[in-house]
Amino acid sequence: MSLLGVLDRIADLPTFDKAIEPARKAVNSLLRPQVIRDALHGTWIGHPLHPVLAQVPVGTWVSAGVLDLIPATRPAATVLIGTGVAAAVPTAMAGAADWSEQEIGVKRLGVVHAVANSVALGLYVGSLVARAKGAGTLGRVLSYTGLGLAGGSAAIGGHMSYAQSSGASHAATTARTLTHEWIDLGPLDDLAEGRPTLRTGEGQGAPVPLAVVRRGSHVDAFVGACSHLGGPLAEGAVEDVRGHECLVCPWHGSAFDLSNGEPRRGPAANPQEKLEVRYEGGRVLARLAGRHLEG
Ligand code: FES
Repeated sequence: MSLLGVLDRIADLPTFDKAIEPARKAVNSLLRPQVIRDALHGTWIGHPLHPVLAQVPVGTWVSAGVLDLIPATRPAATVLIGTGVAAAVPTAMAGAADWSEQEIGVKRLGVVHAVANSVALGLYVGSLVARAKGAGTLGRVLSYTGLGLAGGSAAIGGHMSYAQSSGASHAATTARTLTHEWIDLGPLDDLAEGRPTLRTGEGQGAPVPLAVVRRGSHVDAFVGACSHLGGPLAEGAVEDVRGHECLVCPWHGSAFDLSNGEPRRGPAANPQEKLEVRYEGGRVLARLAGRHLEG
């Protein structure tokens, strides 16, 4: 088994599942209203916010560990530890918001990640207290122990992102399997008005679902797998969300602007892959956006 393969074994274990649902409900009731949750998801920047914020505690605590090696720079290390402790709070809130809308395996590992981070945070707070009381040696022991724990926890977070795809765009992954040619979506008149219609595009091995929305003579076409966790957008709905006409995912309610695929409501933070559309002889054709096509 690879070094981090043990994390997949943990993700398989249902041992603490009974505690996860109450914890999820608690997170959702604390992080209200939806606009707060969306801010924490990173919907407003089009990218998950948690990994952006996490750089502050990780960066400051690693830097403090280096500065603590040199007696003359230890006061600066204390300032960095305090900065990391302050940044850990919004970082944890963003992580909790994302965690509450993930599949069960990610939630299980997320619990381990959160517990390890909480203990590390407690050790750093203890380190600050010890340093303030002049117990520098104890302060450094506590902060180096916290650094080890936070480093291990960061590896768990990385595994959740990369191996479990918890923050990746599932739409982008699906788009890569789609043909680079124009796809015939059929006659314009065959598309339902104002709600998504399922169409398929030729994929490399298997057909790829597309969600196509017609409004009058205008058509918007998207990769059918939601960027959040791959939900079936063709089974969703078209709704006005905060003044934008959006395609709404049936799984967790993420809303993507029909005009450009930008998320207008989370939990999705990544935009939805939108296809180019052209019209020919009463038929609608769509093709992947330029970022996927070689010139
Ligand atoms: S899969 Fe979660 S909102 Fe679409």
